[in-house]
Amino acid sequence: MRNVIIAGNWKMYKTQAEALEFLQGFMTQLDVTPDDREIVLCVPFTTLVSLSQNLHGSRIRLGAQNVHWETAGAYTGEIAAPMLTEIGVRYVIVGHSERRQYFGETDETVNLRLKTAQQASLTPILCVGETKQQRDANETESLIFSQLKKGLVGVDQTNLVIAYEPIWAIGTGDTCEATEANRVIGLIREQLTNPNVSIQYGGSVKPENVDEIMAQPEIDGALVGGASLQPGSFARIVNFQ
Ligand code: PGA
Repeated sequence: MRNVIIAGNWKMYKTQAEALEFLQGFMTQLDVTPDDREIVLCVPFTTLVSLSQNLHGSRIRLGAQNVHWETAGAYTGEIAAPMLTEIGVRYVIVGHSERRQYFGETDETVNLRLKTAQQASLTPILCVGETKQQRDANETESLIFSQLKKGLVGVDQTNLVIAYEPIWAIGTGDTCEATEANRVIGLIREQLTNPNVSIQYGGSVKPENVDEIMAQPEIDGALVGGASLQPGSFARIVNFQ
């Protein structure tokens, strides 16, 4: 059984006050959300504690946006897995393209982070995807297969989510065609040893295109940036038809 998982990625947005305001508007719209959908909010570190306190008894799961591979140490600016699990975090995004592009994340560090997350019983959401240039050069498949091969060495595929996020579709409003996302996700699945890994699509998912995306047979969920910041639009996305 592949779980349906809709995750919001707030990136570097929202103070604690703004996060709580979001929650008030969002929670009331979940009465109609089918039970079999997992809803995750991946928020800034500063917001995790107050959201955790306010999500008690709710069906929303908390996620972080990064985790270091050591459980403690002299790593200024990083966060360790026990610091996340202590406050009830269940998921963590690993290898987001913005981390790879702006902060020097490599397949090797992605691999280390994935394994540490799993050892702490966090479920990592591994992001893979190609740039526009790589797509135009017909390198989409080889790049993604290489990201998977290097990233997944020694990783337990029974506690893993993958997000296919074509970089050219992130924050651009330029969504990948639903059928093309479905094709690539099918190819990703063929590379895995566990056929039940949930694979999300991410990149300009919004209320207007979520129904078509989620209707694709290979797509098990969505990783949503910009459209997860407003209660109304994220509620419409988790309540996809
Ligand atoms: P977007 O971001 O929905 O704003 O395109 C997706 C992501 O970066 O995960």
